[in-house]
Amino acid sequence: MQVTTEYLNLDYTFQGLDADAIEAFAAKRLPKNFAQLREQLLQGEYENPSEGRKVTHVLNRSRHSVVAAAGGRNRFSEVVRLLRSGKWSGATGKPITDVVNIGVGGSDLGPMMGSFALKEFADDNVNHKLNVHFVSSMDGGQLYAVLPIVDPETTVFIIASKSFSTIDTLANVDTVKRWIKPALTEEQWLAAHVIGVSSNNEAMNDFGIPAAQQLSFADSVGGRYSLWSAIGLPIALSIGANQFAKMLEGARAMDEHFGRAPLLENIPLLLAVLGVYNREERGLNNVAVLPYDGRLRYLPSYLQQLDMESNGKQQDRDGKPIDYPTGPIIWGGFGPNGQHAFFQHLHQGYDNFAADFVAVLHRKAPGFNADVQQGLRQQQTLSIANCLAHRRLMWFGDGDRYPGQHPSNLLFVDELTPQSFGALIAAYEHKVFAQGVIWNINSFDQPGVELGKKVAKEVLAVIEGTKHETFDESTQSMIQRLTQ
Ligand code: F6P
Repeated sequence: MQVTTEYLNLDYTFQGLDADAIEAFAAKRLPKNFAQLREQLLQGEYENPSEGRKVTHVLNRSRHSVVAAAGGRNRFSEVVRLLRSGKWSGATGKPITDVVNIGVGGSDLGPMMGSFALKEFADDNVNHKLNVHFVSSMDGGQLYAVLPIVDPETTVFIIASKSFSTIDTLANVDTVKRWIKPALTEEQWLAAHVIGVSSNNEAMNDFGIPAAQQLSFADSVGGRYSLWSAIGLPIALSIGANQFAKMLEGARAMDEHFGRAPLLENIPLLLAVLGVYNREERGLNNVAVLPYDGRLRYLPSYLQQLDMESNGKQQDRDGKPIDYPTGPIIWGGFGPNGQHAFFQHLHQGYDNFAADFVAVLHRKAPGFNADVQQGLRQQQTLSIANCLAHRRLMWFGDGDRYPGQHPSNLLFVDELTPQSFGALIAAYEHKVFAQGVIWNINSFDQPGVELGKKVAKEVLAVIEGTKHETFDESTQSMIQRLTQ
């Protein structure tokens, strides 16, 4: 059972459901007004009730946005052009060679995944070499690795934060501000070494970022849905604005497919309905995401945020508690290496799971001689063969000691391109949307995460002695160890 679209394909044979069963389940679970809600999403009109705004990330890949990104007539494309051509000079006159994206969650995972996956598609009409790095962790762990290999005079920092208030990002920025001295003053740094990407223009102004270095996006674009907006800047810096526009184009093709294909030919809708079936009828609480192409190795972490932050909810759209299962746990890892690590448990362990295998059928290997190219092509085939084999085994099992019956999808593209990558990610976004509609939850807020931030602030205040509060015994004893 396969569905083929312009850029993305799905084989759902190993879900073990025939067309009638899928249609009957969908008829039971999809609300009557699903088509209307889907249209609202695609028009940027769907409501995010708890935050009192519309959901508009799809508009970032409208025909107009794709043309604008490719046309290079806006601030985003201008920044990309200057940095990629080596025409952006630092405060001391040296050309910029390194860009460090400081952001976390949606301001990190999408840009990092996209830059890594697509780097071989960089427009090759630029000779200037620009290195793009990512720093997200609040403990400074990545700064330890990046700061020693970059130079304050030739590095631009992107402060990527929708809210411009996330403590993880601000803590990293604070350390960078200390690190630039004595090579640069803070004024020099702000004037030529900082780009702000945010929907909070006021905060970017207050921080002192010059207007030409501020890239804003609408606050109706959720963080985990923002790689299509200015948050995608690192991707555009890695591959060029034209290639970035192609990624948007692939996502738009998926938007159109989602909007009009009937259920049994609609990839995101099938993913959603089959996923709800696995959750509700088979009681599966987790999905392993298993990419078989190393360029997609960051896909599982990206999907963890997309899916779990969207649909990991215990209240409905009206804020009322619910008593049925919602979004599953998403986990996974690079398939071929997972085979030598966690696959034993998948094959014969006690627990049940569903899986998404993601494969790229063909890979060109430009830049190598014919002999090496042949070797690399054989390796791609080897990887696909392993993907097909493990997927079979998980479904059919192998005798008494191995019952199988673990349902899976196989998402595959002929080649990984900016377009097929865009289509793949947009398909997952729409799957998450459709499941949120089925479960009657708001997939576009994250109250649990906000609560976590609030509690962390309180704990920090007690550790720093600015607030006096007594927590549980375990937390108290840790605070005592820290402060004595
Ligand atoms: O983890 C919570 C969260 O709010 C995510 O939704 C978001 O992507 C991330 O923090 C970063 O937020 P910001 O882009 O505002 O810094």
